[in-house]
Formats: sequence, structure tokens, C-alpha cells
Amino acid sequence: EAAEKGGYDHFMIKEICEQPKAIRDTLKGRLDLEKKKVVLKEIGLDKEAIERIDRIFITACGTAYHAGLVGKYVIERMVQIPVEVDIASEFRYRDPLITENSLVIVISQSGETADTLAALRMAQKKGARVLAITNVVGSSVAREADDVIYTWAGPEIAVASTKAYVTQLIAIYLLSCYLGQLRGTVSGEQLEEIIEALVRLPGQAEAVLKQQTQIREMARRWAKWEDAFFIGRSLDYAVAMEGQLKLKEISYIHAEAYAAGELKHGTLALIVEGVPVIVLATQKEVYEKTISNLQEVKARGAYITAVAFESDQEIGKLVEETIYIPDTISLVAPVLTVIPLQLLAYYAAVERGSDVDKPRNLAKSVTVE
Ligand code: G6P
Repeated sequence: EAAEKGGYDHFMIKEICEQPKAIRDTLKGRLDLEKKKVVLKEIGLDKEAIERIDRIFITACGTAYHAGLVGKYVIERMVQIPVEVDIASEFRYRDPLITENSLVIVISQSGETADTLAALRMAQKKGARVLAITNVVGSSVAREADDVIYTWAGPEIAVASTKAYVTQLIAIYLLSCYLGQLRGTVSGEQLEEIIEALVRLPGQAEAVLKQQTQIREMARRWAKWEDAFFIGRSLDYAVAMEGQLKLKEISYIHAEAYAAGELKHGTLALIVEGVPVIVLATQKEVYEKTISNLQEVKARGAYITAVAFESDQEIGKLVEETIYIPDTISLVAPVLTVIPLQLLAYYAAVERGSDVDKPRNLAKSVTVE
């Protein structure tokens, strides 16, 4: 096992560090840099079938579900089709309004999760076409879906998913560009901007990983916490969901994610002197709104850690500590903002002496209901 870990203490940190490569591998062969287009040869859906889609459902469990939350924002923005996201164990029993014109996207690292597989079968029974995003070639989900986009993260061993998540995001960006191209809902300029941003991501992910020493230092403080709150708006909220799950599942610190604007409807009552709040602030359209939410928790004495773009000159002055990520477009920021959250969860768990790769009560692949 030591050899498989390649010199790292745990599979989880090895897999976090493999993310630049996983992103690069998942993009490989799927971008036409000359024509500024996305090429997804594996998808059998033709232009006519794509034009018929009037509703998209995304369903998954755990971390893959959190990738689906990002998917809703990105697909609605780029493809202009309403998207619903559901946890597979809910979706399969709630009799969703699926028709032959629905596209159901299932996301699963392992391709073997029982609830996700059942959701896939139910959707097909109702006549929908199912597209799977999965990391395991030949898995049950891959075999049964009508279309498959593979993520090329390589084997993920740690129970807490990291590199699979970022590649699921990449698959979502690629799919959104592809559907947008065919439906004519994204302009050539937008496509060019997104493709350029995608190409820069592996190098930018490397840059985030270089801050490990600083993040490890921060995690020493985090390790002492018993509760933490993650807040953000729009795509930052979706990443906050993944950040809190990482922290909970391996460090056993209680954590919750909130849409920043929702705090005032209840949770703000829990924000008192010294309560840790992680604020994600990378979404341009709602930046000012997020900062005013930050001010609300600051006024109540929260201990604030911000995750923001390098070019953000202001946020650092308002908070206790800031983790900077390289500048990019808001749409792809989740790929970078999640990395410091993974690292913080990892180092806090190590500091607390948890069994990082095999957290209590959890399994890598949940093949029974
Ligand atoms: C388990 C794992 C999670 C994972 C979830 C869904 O709970 O511990 O890390 O996100 O299953 O797994 P899947 O293989 O379907 O993505």
C-alpha cells in the first residue's frame, strides 16, 4: 500500500495533488482549439434530439450530487433549458415528471451506487434518454446509460472524493458548451472565453496546490473547531456544499453550508463571537451581495476565512485570513475554490488523528440501498 501511495501519507492527499493531471486528462481530445469548439464524439445525441430536449434532470449522491449543483447553474446559463437537481435516493421515489423529451444526467464516480443506478433505470423506463458522467469504464452506470462521458481522474481510493469531483465539473463544462453550441445558445465569443479558461485550469490548480504550507498552518486552527459554516452565493454556494461535506466526513467537525443570502432566515442566530465562517467570494454578479453577508457575520464576531481571486484587493482587509486562487471567469471558479477546502479538511483531519482514507461509518462505493 505504501508503494501505491507514491510517497504520500494518504491516498486523499495524493489524489488532491493529482487534480491538475486529472483535469488535463479529462479535457484531452475534447477541445478543438483552432475552431474554439468542444468535441464530444462519444455522445450519440444528434442536433435534432438535442433540440427536442425541454427539461434536464441531474441526479447523483454525495459529492457527485454537489457536482450536479454546479451543473444546474452552468447548464441553465449556457443551454437555456430548465434543470432540476436531485439526490438519487429522493429522485427514484418521487415520481418526477420525466417525459421522452427529458434528458437525465446521472453522475457517479464509481458507476455502481445503488440509488443512482436505480434512478437511471427509472428514468429510462419513463422514456428519457440518460447520459452518464462516470469515472469507471464498463461500470453498471456506464453500461446502462444511453450516452457516457468518462471522467479521466484515474482510480480514486480515498473514501472522500476529490479528483473525481473536479473532473465531474470539467465534464459538465464540456457538455454545457457542446449542448450550447448545437442549440445556438452560446456565442462564439463566450465559447472562446470558456475554452481559454478551461485550458488554463490545470496550471492554475498547480498554483493553488503550491499554497499547501500556508493552508496546513490554517488547518491547525481549524482542527480545534467543533462547528463551521460555509457561505457563498450562486456557484460559490454549490462549492460551499462540497466544502462542508469534506470537512464533516474526514475530520468529524460539524459543518454546514448556506446560501449567503439565506443566513438571515435563521442560521444567523448561531453566529456569535469566534464562530468560524468560510466565505467564498468569486462570483462576479453577486460579489457585492456576498460582501454584505460577510459584513453581517463579521458584525457578530465570526472568525472569517475568505476564498477569493488574487486580484481581489478588498476582501483581505475585512477578514481574519484569505486564501487566494488565480483569476478566472466565475463559471469555472469552482474547480479552483474547492481545492483549498479539500486541503483544509485533509490537514484538519490529520491534525485530529482521523483515519483520513477510511472515515468511520463510510464506504467508497455504496452498492446497497
Ligand atoms: C459514497 C462516497 C462519496 C461519493 C458517493 C457517491 O458516499 O463515500 O465520496 O460521493 O458515495 O458515489 P459515486 O461513486 O456514485 O460518485
